[in-house]
Amino acid sequence: MTMDLFDGATTLESQEQLAPGAMLLRGFAVAHERELLSALAEVIAQAPFRNMITPGGFRMSVGMSNCGALGWISDTAGYRYGPIDPLSGQPWPPLPEAFLQLATSAAERAGFSRFVPDACLINCYEPGSRLSLHQDRNERDFREPIVSVSLGLPVVFLFGGSSRSVPARRIGLMHGDVVVWGGPARLSYHGVLPLKEGFHSLVGAQRLNLTLRKAG
Ligand code: SIN
Ligand code: FE2
Repeated sequence: MTMDLFDGATTLESQEQLAPGAMLLRGFAVAHERELLSALAEVIAQAPFRNMITPGGFRMSVGMSNCGALGWISDTAGYRYGPIDPLSGQPWPPLPEAFLQLATSAAERAGFSRFVPDACLINCYEPGSRLSLHQDRNERDFREPIVSVSLGLPVVFLFGGSSRSVPARRIGLMHGDVVVWGGPARLSYHGVLPLKEGFHSLVGAQRLNLTLRKAG
């Protein structure tokens, strides 16, 4: 366990292996919270959160947007990545430098060197929003990991195995926690239980999650 001094506050950083190839980096993003949140606000000003429709015709409870060369899209035609935001007809906003650096350094810490994402899905959870158990499998190259950054309200993250039958662990994720999964854990099922009401001093009554991917 290491102690970091930032803004006068002491934050605890620690790491825990969740499974071979999967690491929980507690507090890893706390030192960068302000840069991350201001870059995020700029992205959202250009590409606002929207509730996408699943291929089965349901509206997702999580608000989503993207930045980077590619963005993840769901609609009645299916799940896929594309270079254009369907709302604006414009390319997704570029991946902020702060996102890129955090993703590369978190991946490195988890044992994945030279990770350079080209896509970041941004999820916005309000009380009651949830994400059912799924695999991230629309990316082209499963040798590259997924880096997930949690900001704002805490939530229960479900992390299972490569098949649905493996019972999922329940992990409380807090502001600044980063989870990296790749290698043998790359296709792990994961999801998020419904967000509880609350208020975070920097983020307000919501949880924001960035998942950085090498999609193309
Ligand atoms: C995701 O699977 O896209 C996001 C997971 C999370 O919000 O923690
Ligand atoms: Fe996911």
